[in-house]
Amino acid sequence: MVIGDIDLGEKPVLLAPMEDVTDASFRILCREQGADMVYTEFIPSDGLIRDAVKAIDKMKTSEEESPVAIQIYGNNPEAMVEAAKMADNAAEIAGGHGCDVIDINFGCPVSKIAGRGAGSGMMREPDKMVMITKMIVDAVKKPVTVKTRLGWDENSKIIVELAERLQDTGIKALTIHGRTRCQMYKGEADWTLIGEVKNNPRMHIPIIGNGDITSAQKAAEAFDRYGVDGIMVGRASFGHPWIFKEIKHYLATGEELPPLGVRERVELAKRQLELSLNLKGPVRGVFEMRRHLSCYFKGLPDFKETRMKLVTLTDPQELRDTLTYVAQTWGDSSPEPANVYGV
Ligand SMILES: Cc1cc2nc3c(=O)[nH]c(=O)nc-3n(C[C@H](O)[C@H](O)[C@H](O)COP(=O)(O)O)c2cc1C
Repeated sequence: MVIGDIDLGEKPVLLAPMEDVTDASFRILCREQGADMVYTEFIPSDGLIRDAVKAIDKMKTSEEESPVAIQIYGNNPEAMVEAAKMADNAAEIAGGHGCDVIDINFGCPVSKIAGRGAGSGMMREPDKMVMITKMIVDAVKKPVTVKTRLGWDENSKIIVELAERLQDTGIKALTIHGRTRCQMYKGEADWTLIGEVKNNPRMHIPIIGNGDITSAQKAAEAFDRYGVDGIMVGRASFGHPWIFKEIKHYLATGEELPPLGVRERVELAKRQLELSLNLKGPVRGVFEMRRHLSCYFKGLPDFKETRMKLVTLTDPQELRDTLTYVAQTWGDSSPEPANVYGV
């Protein structure tokens, strides 16, 4: 699969953008674990054009993540174009690597965003969605991609026609999450319409399928049954970043890797902690690891007290020591697979 001139190889597996989850430390870790491309958390275009520190900071990426997409969202065409130009020049503005791809979020279902016409709210204004996309494509040098859903609700699954219109703007790939806005994250993702978009003879840009890929078998099925060019994994990567390795191995060999042991999980958690500390310093570095740490070790017996420590300790060294203790105490246990839907 190729996006612009970025060759992601055959059957690429991408890390989905997830707010408060896919920060730089997690993105680097997932790349190390086999993710072929990663995305920043979505960044508000209004925040970027106001020079809000938090928004600018989210554009900061590193070489190790590349290829990496910066994702923006918003409803105001001028603000979206300005924000896209900033993403185009993110290396100069925010430091670091900048981005390889600019991704537009037309999929977020959260009321405070969709209700204001941004994210998946744009599915109720497809003309405006197409117009903004075209304006951005014309304004930036980097390849532009779009991530969206099937439609607003059950009665307006417009994705097949919309995909053609988005393609005509000049975007280089389209990611489709197989749910409507009104489904939020409920029910099962419906991949049939994703397959229909892919099999539409008018479509020639890569189609990336997204929704409920929780195992290597599901990943293989997405490619085999629906013919998508790439797949994107979201919640299943949370506390389980080695899922990319599992999927890639299965796609290459048809064989499943054995479940990762506790000691190896500890090594990954430590790696993520060090990345987080390096990138954010000791206070934020520890604080923003908490969500992740509690998820690495789901299902271990008598783990409550240690889990509490992992999510309350503030001193990096105490946290490292606690992780070492996890490996020493539970090293021979077999934990359950991470529960992805706790996110
Ligand atoms: C906590 C969380 C945050 C998310 N944030 C974003 C985001 O910033 N941008 C985006 O396009 N999608 C976001 N999503 C949606 C995911 O990218 C993905 O489309 C969705 O979770 C379905 O894929 P999955 O079933 O593999 O999780 C988020 C999802 C979750 C659970």
